[in-house]
Amino acid sequence: MSSGAPGPDGAARHLAFEALWRVDEESLLARDALDAAIDRQGGGADPRDFDLAWELVQGVLRTEIQLDHVLGPRMARPAADQDPDVMRVLRIGLYQILHLDRIPRWAAVSSSVELAADVGRPAARGFVNAILRRISDGTSPPRAEEPRDPERALPRSDGSWIELWDPCFPKVTGDGAANLAARYGVPLRAAERFIAQHGPAGARRILEASIARPSLSLRPREGRGDALAAALSAAEIPFEREGPCLLVRGAGRIPRLPGFAAGDFAVQDPTAAEVAEVVAPRPGERILDVCAAPGGKTFALAEAVGPGGSVVAVDVPGPRIDRLREECARRGASNVAVVSADAQDAAALPAGPFDAVLVDAPCSNTGVLSRRVEVRRRLHDDAALASLLPLQRALLAAAATRVGSGGRLVWSTCSLDAEENGAQVRAFLAAAPDAAWRPDLERLTLPLAARRDGGYAARLVRTP
Ligand SMILES: C[S@@+](CC[C@H](N)C(=O)[O-])C[C@H]1O[C@@H](n2cnc3c(N)ncnc32)[C@H](O)[C@@H]1O
Repeated sequence: MSSGAPGPDGAARHLAFEALWRVDEESLLARDALDAAIDRQGGGADPRDFDLAWELVQGVLRTEIQLDHVLGPRMARPAADQDPDVMRVLRIGLYQILHLDRIPRWAAVSSSVELAADVGRPAARGFVNAILRRISDGTSPPRAEEPRDPERALPRSDGSWIELWDPCFPKVTGDGAANLAARYGVPLRAAERFIAQHGPAGARRILEASIARPSLSLRPREGRGDALAAALSAAEIPFEREGPCLLVRGAGRIPRLPGFAAGDFAVQDPTAAEVAEVVAPRPGERILDVCAAPGGKTFALAEAVGPGGSVVAVDVPGPRIDRLREECARRGASNVAVVSADAQDAAALPAGPFDAVLVDAPCSNTGVLSRRVEVRRRLHDDAALASLLPLQRALLAAAATRVGSGGRLVWSTCSLDAEENGAQVRAFLAAAPDAAWRPDLERLTLPLAARRDGGYAARLVRTP
């Protein structure tokens, strides 16, 4: 990576380039990579540069497999044999051409040519120009209807379609996994698992959601839902309801939303917000939140149990639990205690009994691919999933020891994979003494494009 200075309008693209370099080379998460790029380039990015850079970083990471399929037939050598810096420039340019309406195609091409020079690849300018122009000329404008030929139908992140004049995606054979994987930009193994576990229609819904820009979802503070809706209407900010949340579109920066200063909402996806409903907290209860950081569910539970109840939030030491502690202090959450511990070890957990115990387990994150944009890179094989299963088993078994008689045990993940969801719960029940637990509720939520994430929650009751 070069540290050459960007052209006058290239700051956002230059930041995006560096962030993507850091994701590739330093294995950083997308947001950390962009923050590091901003710091190295002097800090304090203009908000418009930040917004475009963040859109490009997330967009490229969501669609890179799709983009490489479109680039492939235009290049004499495969992507893996090209200069990685030139590939990053091409992907940033192609994402703008295929997925961003607000940037004219000619501007996406010319800014990519400049970016190639800015990042120390001036010799590649002609190559970048030729490839991006050829693709730009070889595609239809966006349209609402899906083109009929799956080898030439490219889904966009806003739900519309582009038709490619040349076929770029694999032929549909068998269950169609290879074609869907390429078009929606997921590894083949992930598409195969989605189809096998959720059927063709379910897989398609999951993939459509995975490529979409996620919603900005506000979970109103307990008892503040109507007031928040009224304040948004008064400020002429359009919103829609989804589960317990309000989805806000095109609203600008979160701190400027009505109710932010008063703490009237938390930013939380509807599916995640519904996990607190599965726990069903009642005023005055004592709740254990295992795997709690950074605390999205902790605060919903704390609001529901009120000042007469309490939540003990457990997570391993590290930056996530530090954020949870800071957020507790910022909110003055006096009914939340934060405990740093390895929750696989029952002896390390706070003493029970608790009225309810939530285990919001670390998982493969397949329900949140649109938000956790780096995750799809881990789905090429089952290794990451397999390594999580024993940890999950241990967390559930340890947490169960803290549930009081008649109390609730909730297992939740943001995964769509049966091995991490129902299979874990059934294995736990099979290992428990007869009739010690009563299965009470099980809910798998498939993601819905630009409306909600996917996830799973199950509730067991300890028989008195
Ligand atoms: C899905 S996230 C939790 C999200 C959180 N409940 C929320 O709503 O904001 C899973 C969490 O499990 C934690 N974790 C992983 N292994 C753990 C362990 N052995 N003991 C305790 N927490 C663990 C991770 O640090 C991570 O914060």
